[in-house]
Amino acid sequence: MTEQPFAHQPPLWRRLPSTFTGRLLRIAPVRRLVARLFYRAYYEVPGSWRETRWLNFTALQTPQDLWVYQEIVAETRPDLIVETGTSRGGTTLYLATVCDALGYGRVLSIDVQHSDQLPRHPRIEYLTGSSTDPWVVDEVRTRLGEHGRLMAVLDSDHSRDHVLAELRAYGPLISEGCYLVVADTNINGHPAVPHWGPGPMEALEAFLDEGAPFSPDRSREKFLVTFSPRGFLRRV
Ligand SMILES: C[S@@+](CC[C@H](N)C(=O)[O-])C[C@H]1O[C@@H](n2cnc3c(N)ncnc32)[C@H](O)[C@@H]1O
Repeated sequence: MTEQPFAHQPPLWRRLPSTFTGRLLRIAPVRRLVARLFYRAYYEVPGSWRETRWLNFTALQTPQDLWVYQEIVAETRPDLIVETGTSRGGTTLYLATVCDALGYGRVLSIDVQHSDQLPRHPRIEYLTGSSTDPWVVDEVRTRLGEHGRLMAVLDSDHSRDHVLAELRAYGPLISEGCYLVVADTNINGHPAVPHWGPGPMEALEAFLDEGAPFSPDRSREKFLVTFSPRGFLRRV
């Protein structure tokens, strides 16, 4: 005789707490509250996002956002991915690893600070300079060519004015269906680091108010915890 699935379920009194929690979490505001509480715990615990490593190189991101980057890259297959703000290069190497697995794409990472400790990879190129300097944007344009598809992850200076300048510089280079990701829109109280001052979220709002042809793809926030709320901008 074949065994019935679920034949050995625990008695109802032991299942009740999880059934109750499951029902509660179907209510959207409750889910949002739990996500927010988890978010705070995750953000504040030492050694969470500050100690996330990809192949031994620190990536200052959440694993959820990195996974979403992978999904976007696999779906949209950009020719070039620009990361502004290299830091220790973990995210740069991660993106190059994804490109390698797909057999497609290159990564150009830009930082004001030069470092000899960054990961080396045939698909990675580094540029030292400010992401908004015209010569840097020109270098990006040259590498992209006339018909290249660009994805950009903006993760450098997190002041509103700088991010807005980045959005204006890189936005026009993104082709239809590709993504312009604004990192750390969560700061300045959205919901992290409440007293930061105007930052990436405020830049994003100003950019969209200008009528830029992008729309926040909220489906990319499906893992509930993201450092880019509203920040996965898709070119429409
Ligand atoms: C948050 S970290 C980048 C984290 C990195 N993207 C990652 O995922 O691990 C910010 C970096 O931006 C760099 N930075 C600051 N101002 C910049 C600018 N104007 N242009 C380019 N990079 C800048 C800093 O030197 C720093 O390394």
